Amino acid sequence: MRLQTRLPDDYSGASTAELSARIARAKATLGDRLVILGHHYQREDVISFADARGDSFALSRFAATRPEADFVVFCGVHFMAESADILTGDHQQVILPDLNAGCSMADMADEDQVLQIWSELAQVTDSDRVVPITYMNSSASLKAFVGRNRGAVCTSSNARSILTWALGLEGAADVPGGDGDKVLFFPDQHLGRNTGFQLGYGASEMAVVDPRRPLGGLEEREVKGSSLLLWKGHCSVHQRFAPSHVEAFRRAYPEGIVISHPECSHEVVELSDEVGSTDYIIKAVERAPKGAAVAVGTEIHLVDRLARAHPDKTVLSLDPLVCPCSTMSRIDLPHLAWVLEGLLEGKVRNRIAVDPETAADARVALEAMLAIA
Ligand code: 13P
Ligand code: SF4
Repeated sequence: MRLQTRLPDDYSGASTAELSARIARAKATLGDRLVILGHHYQREDVISFADARGDSFALSRFAATRPEADFVVFCGVHFMAESADILTGDHQQVILPDLNAGCSMADMADEDQVLQIWSELAQVTDSDRVVPITYMNSSASLKAFVGRNRGAVCTSSNARSILTWALGLEGAADVPGGDGDKVLFFPDQHLGRNTGFQLGYGASEMAVVDPRRPLGGLEEREVKGSSLLLWKGHCSVHQRFAPSHVEAFRRAYPEGIVISHPECSHEVVELSDEVGSTDYIIKAVERAPKGAAVAVGTEIHLVDRLARAHPDKTVLSLDPLVCPCSTMSRIDLPHLAWVLEGLLEGKVRNRIAVDPETAADARVALEAMLAIA
């Protein structure tokens, strides 16, 4: 589906130098009325204009701390812009420079599918004891579903604390809700599984829910015997990393360090030295000793930036043939210039506005996350 209109030639045909100058001029004119947020996976030329860069957790927090900004331009993907809209004030408008910047993982769970699975689960287990947890990488409507059902959002940097709370484990945050017998975790099975293993659950206590099959393709006894019901979704960028990549790197650099994102499969995570969100990965590379070889299992724009920032270390992609996140890459200088110059002309282009009812319920789930983590 094509949501984004084609840009005028004045943008698509302009040189990088010209676009950079025009963006800088628009930024200076808009001053404090504008804040530009950039996710770590953004291209170098785009992220250089960000007032704040971060992982999805840090950016969702940052958006809420700039009430003076009338316009929040989110250089990231759709679900991040929606979360920023939910967490910012009514007077603030959130803009996504290219409407086709979605997330294929977020698209793997929609509200109808989740409602269907939820009602099927209720026929075989006490749904009051099932806590729904959605990864930040999901639509606002799913966050709203979670908010209405006593659950919380999580990100890759806080999934452990959120699941500890949801399952009432030792050390759980003292925040109302949570304390269930089971979690329905969507849409990323890998983040759910990796966190489940970290918390000490075994493979037999986790089951994959396939939304295309009745009761997720599970037997009643499998639902009853599982603590973590993991939605069958994945990130196509992170799922490409394989144990063979880790083995090849270790053969080439026996003393090397492997750092991966928890959206990678458990087989890769198990073989990694460190695992964490994009912010965590940045800190882990900083901590690595001078001269170290570091293989990073995440999106290539971040890996390349880390390699440039640490010329005293050998920073490589864990998969030498890794592809970029194609939707993140849609945000480019022409689209950024187009939305900013629109603001100068009094036109708000590509506004992401979540309807008030959905936003109110989704805010409950996001605020639960902020209170827990
Ligand atoms: P982070 O929360 O680590 O920034 O990850 C977001 C994402 O989309 C990873 O693919
Ligand atoms: Fe979505 Fe994967 Fe891209 Fe992250 S890297 S935005 S999870 S498709």
